Amino acid sequence: MVKSNLSIESSGVSRRNFLKYCSTITATLALSPSFIPKIAEAIESDKRPPVIWLEFQDCAGDTEALLRAGRPTVAELVLDHLSIDYHETIMAAAGHQAESARADTLKEYKGKYICIVEGSIPVGDNGVYCTVAGRTALDILNEVGGNAAIIIAVGTCATHGGLPAAYPNPTGAKGVSELIKNVPIINLPGCPHNVDNLTATIVHYLLFGAPPALDNLLRPKFAYGKRIHDNCERRSHFDAGQYVEKWGDDGHRLGWCLYKMGCKGPETFHNCPTVRYNDGLSWPVMAGHGCVGCSEPAFWDTMMPIYRRLPNVPGFGVEATATRIGTAVVGISAIVFGVHGIVTAIRSRGFVKEREEEFKE
Ligand code: SF4
Ligand code: F3S
Repeated sequence: MVKSNLSIESSGVSRRNFLKYCSTITATLALSPSFIPKIAEAIESDKRPPVIWLEFQDCAGDTEALLRAGRPTVAELVLDHLSIDYHETIMAAAGHQAESARADTLKEYKGKYICIVEGSIPVGDNGVYCTVAGRTALDILNEVGGNAAIIIAVGTCATHGGLPAAYPNPTGAKGVSELIKNVPIINLPGCPHNVDNLTATIVHYLLFGAPPALDNLLRPKFAYGKRIHDNCERRSHFDAGQYVEKWGDDGHRLGWCLYKMGCKGPETFHNCPTVRYNDGLSWPVMAGHGCVGCSEPAFWDTMMPIYRRLPNVPGFGVEATATRIGTAVVGISAIVFGVHGIVTAIRSRGFVKEREEEFKE
């Protein structure tokens, strides 16, 4: 395990703010407040595994999400503490020096390091569409991912293939879980993923030595267990039948529901409304745009067009429960989108059935 010389307080974060942050992570993980001191201890501990961050076929949006903060965040410091031994985009080393840093970590910490993967892996034409230092993404993933303690796939490309895998998927792009079978994998989809969820996942691993509870798509339930629609601040307007009809109309200015503007919140599972992005500042629906479903598999094929509303569902209104609405939306959209191939995509993963079971609980 790696020893870090960096203390949270020496990095300019007050004890008070650090504990406040630990309390946020505790709440994100849905743990009792009694875990706050344990989480603080786990983050400050000297015994933390190194991280190798691989970046393949992507836009670097997940790295941007990690780095783009108006000020240094506690999350960044926590990840600094983790000793990211290899990250092509942000590491100072380059060329042979960078490759040898990765090889050293691999040798010294075999089976003990965390592998974070960003971007999809193209397997078409022997993987020629993405190579680093002359090796294909698949070859690197097999070596680095296959010898890790756990793999965390961040962003929709690494988890489900994302945009590169959109029809007709010319490079044969795949997500990590389709390729690696011998190492525990945690999927954190989203375009980009939410860094707070990454931090909470890592903290859970440091604390318990195991991944958090996952759903059938290998997503942590603490982050993907609820639909956007169920926690949305515009939900009361949805129930009251108050919808934005046109961008910039009175309803839009008043913060009414974006369902008629194509919001896919009723079909999307993610904690965006509660955790939000940019240090908890905002999230797409709060900013006035509907959810495009970016954390769902194949959203680029199945949730489009962006501004087409989900089918009209009877039973919407103040009397309807979330369960009834959810079941109706999934059922009807399955019929409508079936023409475009969604049904196959969703049903093949047992998505509808699993979700209906979860709603019953
Ligand atoms: Fe929120 Fe979208 Fe649901 Fe409306 S349809 S309540 S904007 S998630
Ligand atoms: Fe993505 Fe929808 Fe959240 S578009 S970021 S899952 S609000």
